[in-house]
Amino acid sequence: MAKPDLMERIVNLCKRRGFIFPSSDIYGGFRSTWDYGPVGVLLKRNVKDAWWRSMVQLRDDIVGLDAAILMAPKVWEASGHLATFTDPLVDCRNCQQRFRADHLPESGACPHCGAKDSFTPAREFNLMFKTYVGPVEDDAAVTYLRPETAQGIFVNFANVQTTSRKKPPFGIAQIGKSFRNEITPGNFVYRTREFEQMEMEFFVPPEDGERWFEYWCDERLRWFVEYGIAETKLRLRPHEPEELSHYSTSTADVEFDFPWGWGELEGVANRTDFDLRAHAEHSGQDLSYYDQEHDRRYLPHVIEPALGADRALLAFLLAAYEEEEVGGERRTVLHLDPRLAPYTAAVLPLSRHESLLPVADDVAATLRPHFVVDTDSAGSIGRRYRRHDEVGTPWCITIDFDTLDDKAVTVRDRDTMTQDRVAIEALIPYLQDRLP
Ligand code: GAP
Repeated sequence: MAKPDLMERIVNLCKRRGFIFPSSDIYGGFRSTWDYGPVGVLLKRNVKDAWWRSMVQLRDDIVGLDAAILMAPKVWEASGHLATFTDPLVDCRNCQQRFRADHLPESGACPHCGAKDSFTPAREFNLMFKTYVGPVEDDAAVTYLRPETAQGIFVNFANVQTTSRKKPPFGIAQIGKSFRNEITPGNFVYRTREFEQMEMEFFVPPEDGERWFEYWCDERLRWFVEYGIAETKLRLRPHEPEELSHYSTSTADVEFDFPWGWGELEGVANRTDFDLRAHAEHSGQDLSYYDQEHDRRYLPHVIEPALGADRALLAFLLAAYEEEEVGGERRTVLHLDPRLAPYTAAVLPLSRHESLLPVADDVAATLRPHFVVDTDSAGSIGRRYRRHDEVGTPWCITIDFDTLDDKAVTVRDRDTMTQDRVAIEALIPYLQDRLP
C-alpha cells in the first residue's frame, strides 16, 4: 500500500470505528484538535498503562507524580521557556499563510500558493499558551498552560525525594496534558496543540549522566519493540549540536518510519543539572542532594525520556494496520499487542435467538472483572468478526447452539483466524495464558 494512502485509511478507520473524531465535529472541526471515542479512549489508556507499568510498577527506582497544569509563572522564567521556547515564523506575502521557517522546502517556494521568495523575515514566536488566573486580565494575572510536564517534576524534586526517601539514581514519572501553540500542527494526532505526554526525569550523580543516557536510549527503543513495533520501523537518531534544546548536552530521538518519512516518536535527553540549578536560583530553595555515604552534596543530573501518548498511539496503529485477502474478501485487521488492544475479547452470540442472548450476557459478565470485553449481536457473525478485526480485538468468543449442551464456546484468534473450542469455565485461564 502506498504510504500516504495508509495515513488516509487510518484516519478513516479511526472515525468509522470510534477511535478518534475531529474535535467540535458538528461545527466543522477545530484547527487540528481531536477527540478520542469509545474505542480510542481504551487504546490510549492501554498505551499509558503499558508505559506506567514498565516505568513505575515494574521498577523500584521510579515513583509517580501528578502535578498541576497551571503553575507559578516564575517556573517558565526559570526554565527558560519564556525566553527561548520559540519557533521561527514566516508569512507568505502572497497568500498570507504562516509557516515555520525551519520547515520550508529547499526550493524557496511557498508550500501553499507556490509563490517564490515571498516570505517575510523570520520572527521568533513563543509556543506557550498564555492565560489569566482570576477575574482581572492584567499582567499580574498572566500564567501559561504548561508546554511540558517535566517542570512539574523539577519543582517537586525536593518534595518527592524527601517523602519517598529515594536516592539518586532514581526517577519521577508523570503522565499529563501539555499545550503548545504549534504554528503548523498536522499529520492527524502527530502534532497537535493539546496533547498528552509521558515523561520521566531520572536523577543521577553528575558523573553518571552519559551512562544513564545510553541506558534509557536502549530501554525506550526496546519498549516499542516489546509492544509490537518491528525493529525495522524504529531507529535512534542522535541530535546534531545545533539541534539541541536550550537545556540539553545530548539528545537522541527514537524515530518511527511514519508514512511521510522518519519522524520523532520520543526524545531522550541529558538535561544535566540545568533545571534544578535554574529553579534553585530563581526560588532561593536548596535543591541539592546530600549523599551521606560519600559525604558530598551535589545537584543531580537528569536523563529524560519524553514521549507523547498520542504520537505513540498513532505509531502503534500504523504498525498494526494490515489489509489482506481472505476467501476472496478484503479483511482489514489491526495486529495490536493484546495488552494494547481496546477490547481483549468480544462475546458474540451466533444469532439473536432468545436462547443464546442470556448465555452471551452471562459469559461477558464472567469475563468483565478480568478483561475489557465487548458484546455484539447485530449483523452476520462474519461481519462482526470483521468489525472486531478492525479494532484489533485479539479473541472473538462465539456462543452457538451447541453451547447450550456442551457449555463450551468457540474462540477465534484475530491473527491466525483459527478456532478453538473452550469450556466456559476454562475461558478466563485460556485468555490469561495467551496474554503476553
Ligand atoms: N520535556 C521534554 C519535551 O517536552 P519534546 O521533544 O518537545 O521534549 C517530547 O516532547 C515528546 O512529546 C515528543 O517526542 C512527542 O512524542 C511529544 N510531542 C511534542 N510536541 C507534540 C505535539 N505538538 N503534538 C503531539 N505530541 C507532541
